[in-house]
Amino acid sequence: MASKQSLAVALAILAVALPLAMAADIVVGGDNGWMPDFNYTLWAEGQEFIVGDNLIFKYNEGDHNVIPVGGAEFKACRAGGEDKVLSSGNDVLPLKTTGKKWYLCGKGDHCDRGQKLVITVLPDVGLAPSSPPPPPSSSANRVGFLTCWMLLMAIVARIMN
Ligand SMILES: *[C@@H]1O[C@H](CO)[C@@H](O)[C@H](O)[C@H]1NC(C)=O
Repeated sequence: MASKQSLAVALAILAVALPLAMAADIVVGGDNGWMPDFNYTLWAEGQEFIVGDNLIFKYNEGDHNVIPVGGAEFKACRAGGEDKVLSSGNDVLPLKTTGKKWYLCGKGDHCDRGQKLVITVLPDVGLAPSSPPPPPSSSANRVGFLTCWMLLMAIVARIMN
C-alpha cells in the first residue's frame, strides 16, 4: 500500500513537472511552412524560442532548402559555399545555444522574397518565478504536453482509487 502511494506521488510530481520541462517543436511559419513571400520576421515576433526547442522547416522536398548562416550572409541573402544545406523537406533543427540564429533558403530568389528567418534563442530558465509566461501562440505548441499531463493525472487517479 505504501509503495503504491509513493508511486502515485512520484507520478503526480512528474505530471506537474513534465509539461514545463519538455521542449516545444516549433513549425516555422506555422501552417504556411517554409515558403517565399511570407514575412517570417512578423511570424517570429509572436513566438518564443528556448534552448532545447526544435525548429522544424516544412516544405516540398526539392522546392526549397534551409541553410543556417551568419548575420552578414543573412543580410546579404547569400549563403557561403561551406554552409551546411538541409533539404529533406522536414528539417528538424534543435536549438542548442542561446542568441541570434539566422536561416535562409538558398534556392533562386527565395531569400530576397522573404524566405529567411532570424530568431533569438532564450535560455531555459525552468521554473524560475521571474520567467514571463509564454505568449498564447507559443503555448499552442505545447498542447501535446498538456495531453501528456492529463494522461498521467488519469493514471494517478486510478492508482489512488
Ligand atoms: C515584415 O514585418 C516586419 C515586422 O512587422 C516589418 O518590419 C517588415 O517591414 C516586414 N517585411 C516585409 C518585407 O514586409
